[in-house]
Amino acid sequence: MTTVLRNIGELVTNDPRWGDQFGILHDAAIEWEDGIVRWVGLDSEVSVRADRNTEVLDAEGRAVIPGFVDSHTHLAFAGERSREFESRMAGKPYSAGGIATTVAATNAATDDELRELISIRIAEMHRQGTTTIEIKTGYGLTVDHEARLARIAREFTDYVTFLGAHVIPIDFRGNEDAYVDVVCGEMLDAVAPFVTAIDVFCEDGAFTVGQAARILAAGAERELTTHIHAAQLRPSDSVQMAIAHGVASVDHGTFLSDADVRALAESGTVLTLLPGSDFSTRQPYPNARNFLDAGVTVALATNCNPGSSYTSSISFCIAIAVREMGMTPTEALWAATQGGAMALCSTVLGNLGIGSNAHIVELDAPNHVHLAYRPGVNLARRVWS
Ligand code: NIG
Repeated sequence: MTTVLRNIGELVTNDPRWGDQFGILHDAAIEWEDGIVRWVGLDSEVSVRADRNTEVLDAEGRAVIPGFVDSHTHLAFAGERSREFESRMAGKPYSAGGIATTVAATNAATDDELRELISIRIAEMHRQGTTTIEIKTGYGLTVDHEARLARIAREFTDYVTFLGAHVIPIDFRGNEDAYVDVVCGEMLDAVAPFVTAIDVFCEDGAFTVGQAARILAAGAERELTTHIHAAQLRPSDSVQMAIAHGVASVDHGTFLSDADVRALAESGTVLTLLPGSDFSTRQPYPNARNFLDAGVTVALATNCNPGSSYTSSISFCIAIAVREMGMTPTEALWAATQGGAMALCSTVLGNLGIGSNAHIVELDAPNHVHLAYRPGVNLARRVWS
């Protein structure tokens, strides 16, 4: 089946062929077939075949964008931690320790209960225009439970990231390196059939820079894409260590030094900013303007999880990035689409170039600026993926 969407007021393609990295066209049309973009151009130049296999749709002057690529989520969990959020809003700081609460709830859930929870969250995201979702493990923390989370997450997405190194489980307190041995050995073996990437939470109360380096090396040896949670709560040597390991993305980056920013700008590593967590943990927002001006490639993602960022809304993150972090609406949209795709090492997601995946969102708005201009409103009118 071929679909032609015509009468698009503003089409954001992120395809440099149309002038710059944002590739914005006005009065445009787009055609796709079997899930792949086949033609993009001015509406006046579209040639529509009149046959039974072609459907022609009218955007009535609305804006159309690539589907959002949410490159950092922790959707495989059970339970919730609203009391912890409430006490943070009353002044208590966020700490990695809360993760254990979710580990207990998740490990107590059946496979079907987890499937149900994940599918509800994915449907909620899809309704808001998110068409690609990365899912991390990390709320299992035993070999069997991490393998179970990886297996179930893989039923929902091609982008499953092993995060056995989320926190040190209670049984290994005082013997942390022994847990790192398990993560790099038996646990990695067990999740390997289901995962495409590996991640580590490098922070006080989680993993040290040396332990994180071991975990990234073990993942790279298996040819997994590598990511790191770094500088979320304080500055850390982990950022430059991870760049030296060639990670695809450094995630969080709330407390980056000037040297970190320079190292990111000179590397092929994406900086994935997660403003939902800074919002929900009362952290300062990072200065994305500074990063972009330095030449860093920035992605935006929700970090959807029950502890530090219980939001499924990437447009909420766009609005914060624009209002509080110095990004333009166009840069923020790019970061939530093409930036996310780059963090996942994909060239066919996050843009509407010819040959890319036809993950397309029609907004109930005349232009993409409305994503930040109308915070808290789901503007996705029709979503194709
Ligand atoms: O990315 N920082 C580590 N992991 C999550 C939080 C997980 C939790 O608090 O349950 C994050 O913010």
